[in-house]
Amino acid sequence: MSANAVEAILEISPTNDDTRPVVRFLQGPHLLGQTPFVAGKTLVEHAFEAGVEIPTNCTSGTCGACMVTLMLGEVPLPDPLPPGLDDFLVEEGARLGCIGRPTGDVDIDIRPPL
Ligand code: FES
Repeated sequence: MSANAVEAILEISPTNDDTRPVVRFLQGPHLLGQTPFVAGKTLVEHAFEAGVEIPTNCTSGTCGACMVTLMLGEVPLPDPLPPGLDDFLVEEGARLGCIGRPTGDVDIDIRPPL
């Protein structure tokens, strides 16, 4: 097989890295870091892997110290909502990093929505 043929195959064959969901952390338009999605890990755990710090306190969904804003993707909410969230904040995209577990590709602004 020629070198050109190998290059052509590589171009049309995505690697695992190209298709694996990614958790990205931003501050406004600035990308702070990203890491591959791992099922079951929280946003705070993903942030740690990405070299991004999300402040925490209670780590149980109560205090709101870890509140971030979901920009893209899915981070399911517990029912009932934990004390650190309310319906208005959720409508604005708020999620709690200590208990929020993404389900795939997500973009997270590390700041709270308000
Ligand atoms: S650290 Fe308190 S709600 Fe997440």
